[in-house]
Amino acid sequence: MEKATVRDLVNVEGKRILLRCDLNVPQDKNTGAILDETRIKASLATIKYLLERGARLVVCSHLGRVKTEEDKAKYTLKPVFNRLKELLPDVKISFASECVGPETEKMANTLKNGQILLLENLRHFAGESKNDPAFAKQLSLLGEYYVNDAFGAAHRAHASTEGVAKFLPAVAGFLLEKEIKILGEAISNPKRPLTIIMGGKKVSDKIALIEGILPLADNILIGGGMSYTFCKVQGGEIGNSIFDEPSVDKCKEFLATAKNKLVLPIDSVIADDFSNDAHIDVVDAGKIPNGWEGLDIGPKTVELFGSYIAKSGTIIWNGPLGAYEMSNFSNGTHGVAEHVTKSNAITIVGGGDAASAVTVMGFADKMTHISTGGGASLEFLEGKQLPGVLALLEKNVKIS
Ligand code: 3PG
Repeated sequence: MEKATVRDLVNVEGKRILLRCDLNVPQDKNTGAILDETRIKASLATIKYLLERGARLVVCSHLGRVKTEEDKAKYTLKPVFNRLKELLPDVKISFASECVGPETEKMANTLKNGQILLLENLRHFAGESKNDPAFAKQLSLLGEYYVNDAFGAAHRAHASTEGVAKFLPAVAGFLLEKEIKILGEAISNPKRPLTIIMGGKKVSDKIALIEGILPLADNILIGGGMSYTFCKVQGGEIGNSIFDEPSVDKCKEFLATAKNKLVLPIDSVIADDFSNDAHIDVVDAGKIPNGWEGLDIGPKTVELFGSYIAKSGTIIWNGPLGAYEMSNFSNGTHGVAEHVTKSNAITIVGGGDAASAVTVMGFADKMTHISTGGGASLEFLEGKQLPGVLALLEKNVKIS
């Protein structure tokens, strides 16, 4: 990576460090229980590194999308605070109920070496998402250095990811560095063939990704809800399956210019209702009767995709291949995950849904890398510059 990292902070002993993490974890709506702690655990390497060197950490993060006053109570980092205390039992961790202001500054200033102050959700303040310089300045008063380890939020130009870097020497944490390195290598110097597996519902969301990555990819395997628009464009019958009218022209263009790279489903699991209790059947692609919808790729498609996966040197997977959260429509995603884990390829799963599908199905530790970024990994793979990375100091800049 061309950016400075925590390793470039020569002496952090006794220094207050404002550490931006992405602790935006899914929580149970009623109990607040954390449903997937991957992001918390992924933040520990940088936290431990800095604590071991005697730093005083002020850790901050966003959580959810706070739109109203009532949302503030709903989107609190207190459950994350409790989990962090369990994960770091020997560390004194305190919680600041406001992420900026005199009281919080006092708490930050009285931290001792090796201690952590976790701030309440940054998005309780509107200035965060607006990238308000005054709010960024207030945040900067909490640290002497700024470390950004929030890869998942690096595509946001917010006060805590971009604005604050104007006020403090700013470097990357280990997670951000690792994500950029692995995703960067996957697209800049891929072990070939490079196979992209694309799923998910909205063709329009993924169009930019297909467009950006098409020149690089050797194969693009398209499944999930987005595949039916391609099928219809080719004259297939798709019944009540998802159809994204605005993407028709782009689908036609891809089929005309890159047909040799695109691999589309040859069969589908169909249902007469969007429900796990619906009647189900398996039909050839493009033969879905009215009143039925495709909710998963079929077994022949799993094998077809498997034949490309087996030959691949690098696989990047984004989006589930069916409505995997319902057991009757999870075989496609599960079968493809099995092929991916059996391959000798470098395997990268990016994007929230595919990552949780793979995690829930027990394949996570068999992948080379599961990205903690949803939108961030997509934007990076599309070739966009991420504001949270751009704002950091260049490598080899002297930091004092
Ligand atoms: C994510 O979940 O992708 C990141 O935490 C960013 O969240 P956001 O999309 O609400 O900015």
